[in-house]
Amino acid sequence: MEWKDKVVFLTGASSGIGEALAVAMAKRGAKLGLVARREELLKELAEKCERSGGKARYFAVDVTDANAVAKAAESLRNEFGKIDILIANAGIGGNNAETRNLNPEAVAKVININLLGAVNAVSAVLPSMLENKSGQIVAVSSLAGFRGLPKSAAYSSIKAGMTAFFESVRLDVQRKGVAVTIIQPGFIKTPLTSGRENKMPFLMELEDSIPLFLRAIERKKRFAAFPWQLATIVRAGKFFPAWLYDRIASGAKYRE
Ligand SMILES: NC(=O)c1ccc[n+]([C@@H]2O[C@H](COP(=O)([O-])OP(=O)(O)OC[C@H]3O[C@@H](n4cnc5c(N)ncnc54)[C@H](OP(=O)(O)O)[C@@H]3O)[C@@H](O)[C@H]2O)c1
Repeated sequence: MEWKDKVVFLTGASSGIGEALAVAMAKRGAKLGLVARREELLKELAEKCERSGGKARYFAVDVTDANAVAKAAESLRNEFGKIDILIANAGIGGNNAETRNLNPEAVAKVININLLGAVNAVSAVLPSMLENKSGQIVAVSSLAGFRGLPKSAAYSSIKAGMTAFFESVRLDVQRKGVAVTIIQPGFIKTPLTSGRENKMPFLMELEDSIPLFLRAIERKKRFAAFPWQLATIVRAGKFFPAWLYDRIASGAKYRE
């Protein structure tokens, strides 16, 4: 795959995985539309991407604003003629949402940004991809979506929802020239995980994870889960009977 021919619409570009991916794609010559809320960070990142050999435009947009996301995508298409790849990456953590003190507003925020934000991004790019019979939609989901996790009701549920949403989209578009890649990372060192108190088994360095994201996109993989150790455990956990899963997942290391 030639990145220099690709126009990429990337949400959640201002920090963490999005920022590192943007720089990596720019180094390969890609043309980028960088979306997030913090304009100053986007501006600096766009300059860095241009210095690295890519082209970059930025859009200070909240992904929960469907119109603003659609306008940003339109503006990128107008400038570069098409969008080849969407990376729906914008997201927030679940603040270890503890269901004994359930706060529906906090959960709604997690759902709105992570899940509906991704839906807004898909709807901003999919019609033109279908018209061109070409494109790739990439979802940054998570291993947290395989089964419910303790103190992660909001986050687990939106990542399960994201995986199912994008898999459904794939069924509808795969014979129409549009590929869908669902990436399910474990724990990666970013601002999102930096304040987390729970254990983070097989925590990855950000720079070690970026080649795995790029490879999944380049190979148009349907699913990519990493690191392999945690992905294997989580996949196996899918087949545990509920009584066994409950015992393990609510185990001592997760308790206060
Ligand atoms: N780090 C991990 O261990 C891990 C593991 C699995 C999956 N993930 C997923 O990877 C994605 C990126 O996470 P990260 O670890 O890189 O976290 P991060 O460093 O906190 O980055 C999150 C990005 O999302 C953007 N964002 C948040 N709310 C937004 C909104 N309402 N509108 C537009 N952009 C918004 C943020 O930009 P602004 O604040 O400037 O808007 C930021 O650029 C998330 O979907 C996360 O769930 C992360």
